[in-house]
Amino acid sequence: MKKIDRETVQRILDAADIVDVVSDFVSLKKRGVNYVGLCPFHNERTPSFSVSRAKGICKCFSCGKGGSPVNFVMEHEQMTYYEALRYLAKKYNIEIREHEMTDAEREEATERESMLAVNDFALKHFEHNLTDTPDGRDIGLAYFRERGINDQMVQKFRLGYALDRNDDLLKAAQQKGFSEKFLIQTGLCSRSEKGQVYDRFRGRVIYPVFSISGRVVAFGGRTLRSDKSMAKYVNSPESLIYSKSHELYGLFQAKSAIMKRDKCILVEGYMDVISMHQVGVDNVVASSGTSLTDGQVRLLHRFTQNVTVIYDSDAAGIKASLRGIDMLLAEGLNIKVLLLPDGDDPDSFAQSHSATEVEEYIANNETDFIRFKTRILLKDAGDDPIARSRVITDIVNSIAVIPNPVTRGVYLQECSRMLDIDEKTLSLQLAKGIADAAEREQKAAQQRQARDQRAQEPTQPTTTTETNVSQPSPSQPAVVRPANKLRKPELVLAKYIVKYGLLQLDDVGCSVLEFIRNELENDGITFTDPICRRIYDDALQIQAEQWPADLAEKTQALEQERAAAIAEGQELIRSNGRDLADMQAKEKDLLELCDAKMAKASREFACMYLEDIFLSTPDDDERRLSTALAAERYQLSKGHTKYSYVETEEDRLPELLFRGVMELKHAILDSQISDLNTQMRQVAPEAQQDLMRQIFELYQLKAQFSKILGERIVNPR
Ligand code: UTP
Ligand code: MN
Repeated sequence: MKKIDRETVQRILDAADIVDVVSDFVSLKKRGVNYVGLCPFHNERTPSFSVSRAKGICKCFSCGKGGSPVNFVMEHEQMTYYEALRYLAKKYNIEIREHEMTDAEREEATERESMLAVNDFALKHFEHNLTDTPDGRDIGLAYFRERGINDQMVQKFRLGYALDRNDDLLKAAQQKGFSEKFLIQTGLCSRSEKGQVYDRFRGRVIYPVFSISGRVVAFGGRTLRSDKSMAKYVNSPESLIYSKSHELYGLFQAKSAIMKRDKCILVEGYMDVISMHQVGVDNVVASSGTSLTDGQVRLLHRFTQNVTVIYDSDAAGIKASLRGIDMLLAEGLNIKVLLLPDGDDPDSFAQSHSATEVEEYIANNETDFIRFKTRILLKDAGDDPIARSRVITDIVNSIAVIPNPVTRGVYLQECSRMLDIDEKTLSLQLAKGIADAAEREQKAAQQRQARDQRAQEPTQPTTTTETNVSQPSPSQPAVVRPANKLRKPELVLAKYIVKYGLLQLDDVGCSVLEFIRNELENDGITFTDPICRRIYDDALQIQAEQWPADLAEKTQALEQERAAAIAEGQELIRSNGRDLADMQAKEKDLLELCDAKMAKASREFACMYLEDIFLSTPDDDERRLSTALAAERYQLSKGHTKYSYVETEEDRLPELLFRGVMELKHAILDSQISDLNTQMRQVAPEAQQDLMRQIFELYQLKAQFSKILGERIVNPR
């Protein structure tokens, strides 16, 4: 998805000030040179979220999240890289040239903007009706009061009222210059067969539906009459900006609570969400009456792994929805289920209990889904053997879709106990279930991929935010790899590359990156971890291509600064000096000072160069890993404490680097030795001698390394 040109990306990254960006979501206090605040990614009482303006990064010392401005926005708003860039561009008024959009796409983009604009107008109009018209107050607001909804919730959910007239909204919108076309496209109005245009929502209280980025994409309107012939709810139709299966009601209002509590509670209706929020349980969203869709599940998964589904205790409803839950399991979510006391729904339960009572009820009564399902189905099957065997197949199929084998194992045990069936028998069935599920998943993945590709095609800025819910969650690891003994030492070297790669090592006469390359190439070593390797390759490319010119430019600028500082200093010395000797001594000091300043600035430039690039790179894997690796210096960069000088990583760099390379080689030797040992066990005795010799040689090499390492390490860690 190449939608923003490089220059613009750079301008956005340059403009984004981390303190400013974070401040939109976190209230920050200045502490020393940094800023601190409560971490937005987890619940805490004492601030551990630290922001460094100079370094352009933020980090939570407790949960580790943070990074560059673009990474912060991605994590916090659950946006993709380009969505985050567009967000920042908007914030800093940087124009993005949409040079790769086709005319048709541009048209669609404007259309969407117009629809969102008319929806926004309608939102405010309905709000105004509710509080500022006699009917709104007497009918709409009175209704919310009667249902126990307070003003705070009315505001939080932007509730409104549609007057009981045919053209109230239509007239008001037209007066403001909105065209009929968009009123109809959004479904705010309809056209009758006779060609008459009229309001869709009449005499109803209004629940606006927001996208995760907070734009109104639809409305739900509830009738206030008990007339059964009338639809209880009228909802906006599907449109260019509203896909019902891709939105969850309340997610916009709940998303930060969901992240902080790392859990989402799923209910059915608008009122359930609002009443739960009102009682203080604010990590609640609704599927709006229909069963969950794939898109909604993936949307949820962006924010948390843990979902609790609340049911009212009406049995028919429960059975109908059991199937939908397999989808949640397959997505790798941890599902719990909560049954409310007889006759209650979340709305009535929240309205009739205190905050603590609700929290406690949830904590004490939520059951994990498999256990819940087994219990319900078993109760239904009774003693009928055929029904029982159907239950078993059903349950095993649910377990089979769970991606994590450990979790699967736990459930298998549990179910073998509950169903009173031998675990072995169950696990045979499970194996078959897994094979079937894998096949289904493969097909689904292919479909998804095709869909994602379509969704990734260029669209207008806000459109991506509203609809691209089918991308993989940015907080998910990209690939799961088997444990790799070499990964740890490789990570250490990758860290030095990200943090100090282009720094010139005076003792060695080359840069950190070149030192690592020389060491690796001499021994024919390459990185085995694909992300480390990409970082290494990219760093080499940057060093070869863009670095020389940028370094030259920076050096020139620094030299000019230095010359100016010297000239200014000399002026001062000459006009204030006592005698020639005094002046000469002062000039010597001045030169030294200016040289040291320049050396420091150029070291800093070299250090930050790669780090800046990697911390904001579009490559999700590289950016995430680099962010994690770079965080360490930030923590250790105190330099002087009150009492003594603490050696920084940078001070010890030559030694650490040498050690890092040696440790990687050591690990490689170890793995070669263990490979040979494995071979030994498999070959004929005649061949063993040769293998033994090889192993022996490797051991000798290892001993040499250890000796060198031992000598070099003056103060081991
Ligand atoms: P409910 O009938 O449980 O409605 O439908 P509710 O939200 O609890 O409303 P109250 O308590 O009667 O005021 C659950 C959800 O199903 C959708 C709505 O999203 C509703 O919130 N629904 C229901 C419709 O879209 N249309 C309908 O006709 C009924
Ligand atoms: Mn209800």
